[in-house]
Amino acid sequence: MKQIKKIALLTSGGDAPGMNSAVRAVVFAAKNCGIEVTGVLRGYEGLIDWETIPLGTDDVRNINNQGGTVLFTSRSERFLEKKYREQAARNLKEHDIDAVVAIGGDGTLHGAIEFKKEGCNIICIPGTIDRDVACTEYTLGFDTAANTAMKAIDSIRDSSVSHGRCSVVEVMGRKRGYIALWAGMATSADAIVLPEKWDGNYDSVTDAIKKRHENGRNSYLVVVAEGVTDAPALAKMIREKTGIESRVSVLGYIQRGGQPSAKDRMYGSLMGAFAVELLKEGKENRIVAIKNDLLIDFGLDEALDIHNNSLDSFQYQLSLMLSE
Ligand code: F6P
Repeated sequence: MKQIKKIALLTSGGDAPGMNSAVRAVVFAAKNCGIEVTGVLRGYEGLIDWETIPLGTDDVRNINNQGGTVLFTSRSERFLEKKYREQAARNLKEHDIDAVVAIGGDGTLHGAIEFKKEGCNIICIPGTIDRDVACTEYTLGFDTAANTAMKAIDSIRDSSVSHGRCSVVEVMGRKRGYIALWAGMATSADAIVLPEKWDGNYDSVTDAIKKRHENGRNSYLVVVAEGVTDAPALAKMIREKTGIESRVSVLGYIQRGGQPSAKDRMYGSLMGAFAVELLKEGKENRIVAIKNDLLIDFGLDEALDIHNNSLDSFQYQLSLMLSE
């Protein structure tokens, strides 16, 4: 078994609260077993250009409470090309790096799977507010993002009630509706529009609003995941079909930033330390995951083969029952 002496650490894709806790835990856990850590800036881009900083425990001591990522991030177009992955692999070899720890979402996982073909050992930690990495029940950042969305929607609802309007709030989550589901349920939304369930028919939403209107309600809340449908088009449809004044709020990037919740700090710390454990055990090309609240790991290819695009059905059914 090859002993790991030096690792590179990076964050990639959309930033997510809790990434800094994972960075911190990797650095501390590595130091604890005599592994040197090189911080790679701007994700896979920094791996190609060898934009790095040495990372010691003093550099990461007080970053748990910071949103974003201290290592910066990118969505690297170049890393999709083999010639740049080869360049990154040469950089690792030249600097005697034995393994890479990459914190990011689905795109990061796909990049890692291609990168291991260059003979590199890469361990992934799932970090994305979307909670859309199929092999794990949790991805870093989701809890903070859902809470941020919930608080923002609470405020929007206040104004909606004062004016007797319908608020259509668009939250993040391109392919998965977990932020919409959780923030929508937490704010007692009248309708939650999810990518997993959208059939292109606006009637279910407009009918729900109409029904409430007929029952004497004077304000309404619709939470829609981005990418499902155009929120302004949905608001227009509600206006046309119900006559109720409707307004759109797009929450956008506030959901990605801000102080991480206790859960994201804790899971970031656990996942970071676990990634170093895997390296200590001599494991290669794995992804850290959570199942039944326990830390587990999968091979990268195995992780890609897990297709789980369905929402938790009990949570979904409950959301329907609670918005009746
Ligand atoms: O990181 C996930 C995510 O926030 C998605 O919810 C959103 O669709 C996307 O990233 C936005 O990406 P970008 O930062 O490239 O605009």
